[in-house]
Amino acid sequence: MNVRKLGLLGFLALSGIFSNGFAQKDTDKRVEELLAKMTLEEKIGQMNQVSFFAVDDKAIAQYSDDDMDTFLVRMGIAGGQDQKKPSEMTRDEKTALIKKAAAQILDNNITQPVRDGKIGSLLNIVDPGMINKLQKAALEESRLGIPMIIGRDVIHGFKTIFPIPLGQAASFNPQLVEDGARIAAVEARSVGINWTFAPMLDISRDARWGRIAESLGEDPYLGGQLGAAMVRGFQGNGNLSDPDAIAACVKHFIGYGAAEGGRDYNTTNIPLHLMWNVYLPPFYNSVKAGAATLMTSFNDNDGIPASANDYLLKDVLRGKWKFDGFVVSDWASMTEMLAHGYAKDGKQVAELSANAGVDMEMVSGTYLKYLPELIREGKVSMETVDNAVRNILRVKIRMGLFENPYVDTKKASILYTAAHLNAARRAAVESAILLKNDNNTLPLSESKKIAVIGPMADAPHDQMGTWVFDGDKNHTITPIGALKADYKHINYVYEPALGYSRDKNTSNFEKARQAAANADVAVVFLGEESILSGEAHSLSNINLIGVQSELLKAVKSAGKPVILVIMAGRPLTIERDLPYADAVLYNFHPGTMGGPAIFDLLFGKANPSGKLPVTFVREVGQIPMYYNHNNTGRPFVGNEVMLNDIPLEAGQTSLGNTSFYLDSGKDPLFPFGYGLSYSKFEYSNLDLSSASIPVNGVLTVKATLKNVSNVEGTEVVQLYIQDKVGSIVRPVKELKGFQRVSLKGGETKVVEFKLSADELAFYGRDLVKKVEVGDFNIWVGGDSNASLKGSFSVTE
Ligand code: BGC
Repeated sequence: MNVRKLGLLGFLALSGIFSNGFAQKDTDKRVEELLAKMTLEEKIGQMNQVSFFAVDDKAIAQYSDDDMDTFLVRMGIAGGQDQKKPSEMTRDEKTALIKKAAAQILDNNITQPVRDGKIGSLLNIVDPGMINKLQKAALEESRLGIPMIIGRDVIHGFKTIFPIPLGQAASFNPQLVEDGARIAAVEARSVGINWTFAPMLDISRDARWGRIAESLGEDPYLGGQLGAAMVRGFQGNGNLSDPDAIAACVKHFIGYGAAEGGRDYNTTNIPLHLMWNVYLPPFYNSVKAGAATLMTSFNDNDGIPASANDYLLKDVLRGKWKFDGFVVSDWASMTEMLAHGYAKDGKQVAELSANAGVDMEMVSGTYLKYLPELIREGKVSMETVDNAVRNILRVKIRMGLFENPYVDTKKASILYTAAHLNAARRAAVESAILLKNDNNTLPLSESKKIAVIGPMADAPHDQMGTWVFDGDKNHTITPIGALKADYKHINYVYEPALGYSRDKNTSNFEKARQAAANADVAVVFLGEESILSGEAHSLSNINLIGVQSELLKAVKSAGKPVILVIMAGRPLTIERDLPYADAVLYNFHPGTMGGPAIFDLLFGKANPSGKLPVTFVREVGQIPMYYNHNNTGRPFVGNEVMLNDIPLEAGQTSLGNTSFYLDSGKDPLFPFGYGLSYSKFEYSNLDLSSASIPVNGVLTVKATLKNVSNVEGTEVVQLYIQDKVGSIVRPVKELKGFQRVSLKGGETKVVEFKLSADELAFYGRDLVKKVEVGDFNIWVGGDSNASLKGSFSVTE
């Protein structure tokens, strides 16, 4: 390299380091200067987060008359002695009274405490005018002028809704996930939100758990890559002070997705090796990607509620990982320690959480109430409070909130722009997974007459999925909407047959069958309403809900090819439905642009490329079933006798002793990483740079991918390893690399991966992360059953 070039690069690198260094020093100095001026009450105020749902015209317009009456009576505004009864009032009168009361609540419970420095953060206000007013109270009317950080759950889009996170994970595309988060940030920040509670990095191996929808799936490597991408997207690629960046919050620390039986909020029992090798890595990745904040979880793990787990919050997060953002509790997760039976009263709650390292309390108010007295009694040290406040102020300074606190309400709206909608459409395309395509039923010819059937064909609300607070269903384009807008030339009939997914009224099934009989092909849209997944929405039966399977059967009986399109918040157990569909396109709730994306795929304008980020089980009773499990001492061998073939009165041990279910076998319905394409890909020539590498070496892995069809397409090439012998038992397979590779028909490419110590290392017997010498298996392929196999060893 020429010397001048080197000099310039060197200068740029150094100036980067120095400017970061200076910025850090400057931030620290500002934090200390502020801290020195703060009273104890002001410090505790920073540690207090309050929720406020605005009661504005829009909200009131949605109240039923009953809601209004209850509000007026409960607030003591009507219905009491000497007061008018709600029944004697017009809706306008009620509206005026509610608005007046709401304004008073806002003033007494929010604005004044903000002026008094008692609130460090608000969540759930989204009205830019109100946000500006309250920020003004914090900045211009409080003693020290410290801005609030305004939080909101912006989980998979703010207004423009992207596929649910589980869907985005199916894209195996970090850039797509980053772009989606960027757009969500730009939209949210434009109304004054500067902090989101995402990404959720909880590994989930249980489809019964409703929040699997919000997860990035079952794999720590995939979750780690995509979680970090989301953090970069929200936070403006490392520049938190960008005027359109919002702070990310990685959650829930930790183990929440391992809730017993998939019942939300439940106990988890994750032992240390599993914690370090599976549950912690995605969080580590996101912390290293610069996540500004982190949220504790609701569950207790091995008896210790997460909001009191000093080992994880202090030793791991601060000690080992050097996290210097702030930690917020989950919604009342601190006071829920009372129900857990871990604290006897609110005062002990505050003591436990403060001492464990929770910097900010979400909504439950025990810090505000009890920290002064806990400090006086010496149960919580001043140092502990100071450190919590330092963490919070550091983030506020880094975000530029002191300099740039207000929303420009005059700026043109950047919500639902064409660019955002296009990105959401692309995301929905890449998130769909083609599970079955017998006889090349798909793609469909546009000249076919189509019977569009099913409750999800035109469900603008449900298509958006869980955790949508701000997306407006009037902007959703459903499949029917897409036929009306983008595919006007298609000859179709629409027969929903069911009003919604749980609808049990079968009276229109015959009409649906007739519609299919009179068409060339039926496209049946089934799935779940959005409310059936998400927080507190777990299910013990994850078949297609209601009578949807019966509808599918009825349609199939018309004798025409049937395409099943599912939109759901979780992997459903669809084995029993597969015989009634010639093709299956699975969409985790695909968001605002799901309709056009689905028809782009069905008509072959786009080629499916999504891969499953979670294992699809045959039966709910197989759960938990995940690809990266440990081996038993008696693995399945393949000649096992299944339930129906067991001879009568067979001897106890005569049929062998291996690990499987007599009824549903050992395999899932579809493995992790699985997904078809309209192209056909073939793998060959696994080529390793060496048969052995030193512990700190890098192995170059090459494989040839050929598109043996004449359809251009994209394949997610996946690399798996197995460490054959370890100081603790190692999983049978672990994903350690993936790439999306696009090939024209007939085209061939050599795909290359670099496998380094970081991917080969794990937390072994001594809980120290390192590569252990020995033999490894390696696979490259299109899913976790990849057959192109090799081996190598790692030597001292
Ligand atoms: C959820 C969090 C969420 C918070 C704030 C809680 O119920 O568990 O994930 O961020 O509410 O809305």
